[in-house]
Amino acid sequence: NKVVLAYSGGLDTSVILRWLQETYGAEVVAFCADLGQGEELEDARRKAEMLGIKPENIYIEDLRETFAREYVFPMFRANAVYEGTYLLGTSIARPLIAKRQIEIARETGADAVCHGATGKGNDQVRFELAYYALAPEIKVIAPWREWDLTSRTKLLNFAERHQIPISKDNMGEAPFSVDANLLHISAEGKVLEDPAETAPEYVHTWTVSPENAPDEPTTLEIDFEDGDPVGLGGERLSPASLMERLNEHGARNGIGRIDIVENRFVGMKSRGVYETPGGTILWHAHRAMESITLDRGMAHTKDELMPRYAELIYNGFWWAPEREMLQAAIDHSQHTVTGTVRVRLYKGNVIVEGRSSPYSLYSEAHVTFEDDEVYDQRDAEGFIKLNALRLRLWHSHRG
Ligand code: ARG
Ligand code: SIN
Repeated sequence: NKVVLAYSGGLDTSVILRWLQETYGAEVVAFCADLGQGEELEDARRKAEMLGIKPENIYIEDLRETFAREYVFPMFRANAVYEGTYLLGTSIARPLIAKRQIEIARETGADAVCHGATGKGNDQVRFELAYYALAPEIKVIAPWREWDLTSRTKLLNFAERHQIPISKDNMGEAPFSVDANLLHISAEGKVLEDPAETAPEYVHTWTVSPENAPDEPTTLEIDFEDGDPVGLGGERLSPASLMERLNEHGARNGIGRIDIVENRFVGMKSRGVYETPGGTILWHAHRAMESITLDRGMAHTKDELMPRYAELIYNGFWWAPEREMLQAAIDHSQHTVTGTVRVRLYKGNVIVEGRSSPYSLYSEAHVTFEDDEVYDQRDAEGFIKLNALRLRLWHSHRG
């Protein structure tokens, strides 16, 4: 039997790799995706080789462009936010990792897949819903729900017994749990577990604090086509390089920090500190682009669908038919979301300054406070009176 493991090169998934060989006698295929987490993935290759994985069973893949183009951008077309604040940086990466794992399982003739998420969180659900959707017969192995390495000490002992290199950072408890990609970095647990306590500044590893951001603002022009960002100030950029540029500007200006308590799908609340520098800029800019290009009915319908769409992604239903159905509606609305938005970044703020589009529905002729030839103000009288009809009836009976 053969199993494809979502491998990061870190201590936990290295232990899992060994544990799979030992417990299941399995031939392990190690899959490591570069989603822009900023780690040297050739280190992961070396580590996998050291753990006895054959070179042909090591898959290290740069998926940054696919991630940005086919996952992050479609989600941003919806302006998706979970519970009002979370831009779903971890949630949106899982369906892609799971999809590649399943494809690799097919290519290598593996009958099982394995991930390193715990039995308490959302990630296990996201990985496994995707596995079962894309390969209904696949066998799923979730070591954290199975093994007896229930404490850090046991895990470290296992690592030592199996000559798995343990770095200095791994020795004690890591001060919090991290997940990173080109959209965000998350920190949860340990020093963050008491939601009444202020998160220590060192938890933020990406953005500067707004207090330390430059006194000079940064102005950016973001170009959109069909609802997706395509460039900055006229310079065309690939999806991933555009995200990287937005991230650099955002991180320098202290943009995209949140500290939240969220409702996990499994039922518990959890406290997280997240940084989404580029995504936060993009979210504001995309809404501003829509503000002049979308009809009101379409815009408001999108806003009604959004929480449902965001919850689907959060709960791991990216590959569900209703997510695809909502996506089709959202994508349909984006054909005129083309143009340029100018934003100013200043000490943690994204301030929209201007927007323009060849498809703009904004009519200066209609809205002007000066005389106009296109709008008859007398029409408003009947409009208001008919809208008031039921209010008058209602209130006349209430005295
Ligand atoms: N709570 C966030 C979410 O559910 C972040 C999860 C972070 N995952 C991790 N393996 N550290 O999307
Ligand atoms: C985990 O439990 O593995 C991370 C947190 C989460 O998935 O919500």
